[in-house]
Amino acid sequence: MIKVLVTGGAGFIGANFVHFLRRHRPDWQIINLDLLTYAGNPENLRDLENDPQHTLVKGDVAEGELVAGLFARYGISRVVHFAAETHVDRSILDPAVFVRTNVLGTFFLLEAARQAWKDLPQEAAPRFLHISTDEVYGSLGSKDPPVTEAAPYAPSSPYAASKAGADFLVRSYFRTYRLPVLITNCSNNYGPYQFPEKLIPFSIRQALEQKPIPLYGQGGNVRDWLFVEDHCRALLTVLEQGQPGETYNIAGLQEKTNLELVRLLLSLLQEMRPDLGDLERLITFVPDRPGHDWRYALNCRKIDTALGWRPQVNLEEGLGRTISWYLSHLEWLNRVCSGAYRQFLQKQYGAGVI
Ligand code: NAD
Ligand code: DAU
Repeated sequence: MIKVLVTGGAGFIGANFVHFLRRHRPDWQIINLDLLTYAGNPENLRDLENDPQHTLVKGDVAEGELVAGLFARYGISRVVHFAAETHVDRSILDPAVFVRTNVLGTFFLLEAARQAWKDLPQEAAPRFLHISTDEVYGSLGSKDPPVTEAAPYAPSSPYAASKAGADFLVRSYFRTYRLPVLITNCSNNYGPYQFPEKLIPFSIRQALEQKPIPLYGQGGNVRDWLFVEDHCRALLTVLEQGQPGETYNIAGLQEKTNLELVRLLLSLLQEMRPDLGDLERLITFVPDRPGHDWRYALNCRKIDTALGWRPQVNLEEGLGRTISWYLSHLEWLNRVCSGAYRQFLQKQYGAGVI
């Protein structure tokens, strides 16, 4: 039986991936290591509470002994590494934890895998999939072509730099030790379970509460949007069919300025909830994020050609499904907006926003 260590599986993409695995690989045993920070929520896994194929372990990827112990105890032969501090604005306010979790945490996982997998028989075919981001390639201009996997790294924020550092460590473990690693770099995800600090769920929440929706600068920055379910399908494809040592870009192929995106989101929300009135009036331009990357865009021909993956959910459909999910999970939304989160918002935007 395949035993897979998923890290960060109580967070947004991780929880979606755990559910995806339960549906598509029901015989796999999932060990889910998550520190349950503000972004990790066991409620995202409630339906798996009594599932013998899923074990949630509360713990820190940056604690070497704990991580090594899990490999020994469970006989792990696959790793899917999501655990990270992920919010750019938080990395600007408090970068230290990003270096600890994202860089040191990745190191301890790599080291545990290297030690544990030394003596595995070949047929165990172990694999270490590291989830990275398009942000490591840095900012593009409006007319630049989308970047390929061969593009140089040029991270801007402490978050992006910590992910770049982790990626370099992962690459080094292939080159030096032949550890069977794979790296994926993907664009902005959206969908169910995303913590409402990120643009889409934050805008939904503000709209529901009839509060200002802050857009940084003039809202002209461009992001490429990938529905989380498409991402999960890409990750399982890479885990099973990717070539160890390779990197694969995963794109949504749906670029929008932040203003275009929020307008589309609000118009869809308004159709479902006409009682909320005209929502565009809530859009408020605020001072720009320091070091704000202008645009990200990925060329994902490699994963299409080599592994036959391409995104299937278009933006309008994905946003509709996302809004419906949040509307039917209002209690979830209220509960995750804890006191600690409110403090962060106040620091970020001032008292008017909350
Ligand atoms: P998230 O912030 O929603 O979840 C992160 C999870 O990691 C949480 O469950 C948290 O409790 C856990 N975690 C944090 N520190 C930990 C530690 N020290 N030990 C164990 N667990 C810890 O993040 P997400 O948006 O789901 O992102 C998952 C991964 O995907 C990250 O590596 C991120 O860099 C990458 N990524 C995200 C996006 C995106 O748009 N969300 C895009 C590209 C790449
Ligand atoms: O590109 C992949 C990355 O996408 C991931 O690696 C990160 O983990 C994830 O957080 C995300 O980073 P972004 O900074 O692009 O996402 P965020 O949702 O924070 O912001 C999206 C865009 O919207 C960005 O240009 C900043 C802007 N923004 C964001 C917020 C929260 C606003 O204008 N106002 C806001 O309130």
